[in-house]
Amino acid sequence: MHSLVYRSVADESFVLPDIYSMLSHARDFNAKNGITGCLLYHNTKFLQLLEGEEKKIKALFQKISKDNRHHHIEVIEKRVLDGRMFNNWSMAFHDYGQNGQSAFVKMGQIDSFLNASNAFHQKNPLVLSFFSQVKEILFSN
Ligand SMILES: Cc1cc2nc3c(=O)[nH]c(=O)nc-3n(C[C@H](O)[C@H](O)[C@H](O)COP(=O)(O)O)c2cc1C
Repeated sequence: MHSLVYRSVADESFVLPDIYSMLSHARDFNAKNGITGCLLYHNTKFLQLLEGEEKKIKALFQKISKDNRHHHIEVIEKRVLDGRMFNNWSMAFHDYGQNGQSAFVKMGQIDSFLNASNAFHQKNPLVLSFFSQVKEILFSN
């Protein structure tokens, strides 16, 4: 099992409705290819964790790298894993446009973790523990 985390910057024209539509295709593809992970969208920046077989992750990341809906794509961390972190998610997604008090509180928590963890920095070995915290926040009640 391999994981890859990268960051990127969304193109100006790539806005939430388009992101949701991309995600629905992405989730189908990921489910069929044994890929799981989490995509965060924060102040026009993406941070994505991909988990799966090495070959599949490589092939998907090649496509993602060529996608002109985002730019400044930089790999933050690649790792061999014992197991998946997001095992039930073909691609969990967190954005900051959700309504509701609990989404608002979670958003604030993730924001402060993000700032404290330097998760966007390149070659950051702590990025996986950051995602594990994100997972706890996203899926707590
Ligand atoms: C930020 C971002 C994340 C993406 N994540 C995925 C993903 O997890 N799975 C996926 O299949 N496509 C994802 N895509 C879309 C791919 O770049 C690509 O459009 C898709 O794989 C379809 O490629 P194809 O039409 O060449 O088959 C993502 C795109 C962006 C911009």
